[in-house]
Amino acid sequence: MHNRRTAIQMLTTAAAVPLMPRGLRAQQAQQALQMLPMLDATGGARVELAASAGRTRFAGGEASPTIGHNGSYLGPLVRVGRGEMPTVVENRLDEPITTHWHGLMVRGELDGGPHSLIQPGERWDIVLPIDQPPATLWYHSHVHGRTAPQVYSGLAGVLQVVDGEDEARGLPTSYGTDDLTLVIQDRRFDEAGRLAYDPGMPDIMHGFSGDTILVNGQIGRTAAVPSGVVRLRLLNASNGRIYPLSFASGREMHLIATDAGYLDAPVALDALTLAPGERAEILVDFSGTERDALVSEENPNEGRMMRGMMGRSGNTLGNRFDVLPFAVDARLAARIDRIPDTLDGSMPDLAGRAGTTREISLDMGMMGPGGMGGGMMGGRGMMGDGMMGRGMMGRGMMGGERDQDGIPDPDSDLFGVNGQPFDMQRLDFQVPQGDVERWIVTASMLAHPFHVHGVAFQVLSEAGGPPRPQNRGWKDTVLVNDQVELAARFDQPASRETPFMLHCHILEHEDGGMMGQFTVG
Ligand code: C2O
Ligand code: CU
Ligand code: CU
Repeated sequence: MHNRRTAIQMLTTAAAVPLMPRGLRAQQAQQALQMLPMLDATGGARVELAASAGRTRFAGGEASPTIGHNGSYLGPLVRVGRGEMPTVVENRLDEPITTHWHGLMVRGELDGGPHSLIQPGERWDIVLPIDQPPATLWYHSHVHGRTAPQVYSGLAGVLQVVDGEDEARGLPTSYGTDDLTLVIQDRRFDEAGRLAYDPGMPDIMHGFSGDTILVNGQIGRTAAVPSGVVRLRLLNASNGRIYPLSFASGREMHLIATDAGYLDAPVALDALTLAPGERAEILVDFSGTERDALVSEENPNEGRMMRGMMGRSGNTLGNRFDVLPFAVDARLAARIDRIPDTLDGSMPDLAGRAGTTREISLDMGMMGPGGMGGGMMGGRGMMGDGMMGRGMMGRGMMGGERDQDGIPDPDSDLFGVNGQPFDMQRLDFQVPQGDVERWIVTASMLAHPFHVHGVAFQVLSEAGGPPRPQNRGWKDTVLVNDQVELAARFDQPASRETPFMLHCHILEHEDGGMMGQFTVG
C-alpha cells in the first residue's frame, strides 16, 4: 500500500500561490493523484462519519469554506462486506443534513432520504444490514432543496461493498495502485481561487456545469499507474455534468461493473457516458504505454434548452477536455496482465415478469406533454405563470426562500415528475412489496439521469431499441434521453414516514422539484 496516495491529508496542495488557474495547473500535473482515505469496515468496525465545516485550498489562492465527512471535503471511502455495518453520522454543521446510501439495498428508514433529517448537533445511530453483491456505491446528503449546495460543498463520499473474492475473479485489488476509485466532479472558482456556487438560470435549466475538473477533490493531478491492467471505479458525483468519456489514445475500456455490481463478462467499449449519480467500473490495460488521459466531450445537455434564449452558461470546458491524465510508473506492480474472460455477476432478467406499468415523465410541467410546441411562449407556458413567473424571476430558487427550519419554500419549485413538483407530504404511489414493476420514463427536452431508491433495476429498452451495452447490467441510475423502459423488483420495505425517492440526479433539478416518493409494503 502506498502511503503517499492513501494519506489522510488529501486536499492540500504544496504551494500557496496567490491565484493560478492555468499556469500552476501545468506544475500540478506532476503531482500524483491521491485516493480518498479508506475506512475499512470489512471486519465489522463501527463506521463513524462526522459532517463538519472546514476549509479547503483547492487551487492555490484562498481556502474555500467546504463541508466534509471526517475531513474538509468529501469523506472516506467506506469499505464493507456482507453483514451488519454499525454506523453513526454526527452533524456538526449548523443546518440539517441527511446521509443517503445511494445504491444500498436497505429499508426506507435506513435509506437516509429527505425525511431522515439529522439536525445540527444530532447523531444518527443505525445498523445497516449489508446484503447485496459487491458494488461501488456512494453516500451524500439528500435534504430537499439543499442537496445541490451541500453536495457541491463536499457532503459526499464513496461506499464499496466487497466480498473478498476479487483476486479469484482475476481483478486488480491493490487500492491506490492498480485499483483506483475516482470521484469525478466539476466546479467553479472565483478570482480568489475560492469554490463558487452561483447557479444562474441556464445552470438550473441544464444542470450546473463547472469549468474545472476535480478528481477525488483534487485539481490537475496525474494518476500514476503500473504497466498492466488497472481497475478504475468511476463515480460521477457532479451536480449536473454528464461526461461522455473515452481515452485520448482511443484505448479500450473493459466494463466490468455497472451501478449495482459485476457483469457476467467484461464488455469492451470505446466510450462510456457517465451521468450524475452513475458508477461504472472499467479495466484498462496500460502495458506498452507511457501516458494517456481519460477525456470527456462537452456535457450534451449544455445549451440544449435555452440556446438562443438565455445563452450558454459561459462556464463550459469545451468540446474535449482532460478528466484525468495517467502516467505509467514502471516501479509500480500490476498484479494482472490480462482481462478476465468472464465474471460472476448475475445479469438482470426481469423482462416479462413485470405486473404494474407506470409512466413517469421528467419533462417540465410548463412544457406540457406536447413539448416545446405546446406552450413555450404562450398560454401557461414559460412566459406565463410557469417557470419564470413563479420561480425563476420571481424569487429565485437557490437563494433566499426558506422556512424556519431552513428548508426552502416548496413554492419555489420549478420542476416536477409527471408535471407535479415534489411535495414532502404527498405520497405519489404505493408498490406492493416483492412486486416486479415496469416503468416507462420519458424525457424529451433534456437528458435526465433517473434514479430510484431501494432497488436495482434492469434497463429493458432505450429510445425504443435495445439498451446500450453500458446499461445492460444492474443499474440504480440511468440517463433518460427520449425514453427508458426499466423493470425492478421492490424487495425493500418503505413506509409513509420514510418513503423511497425517485428523482433526477441533476441536483438542481432534484432540488427544484423533479422528485417523487413511494412506499413499498
Ligand atoms: Cu444519489 Cu436520491 O440519490
Ligand atoms: Cu439514491
Ligand atoms: Cu433532470
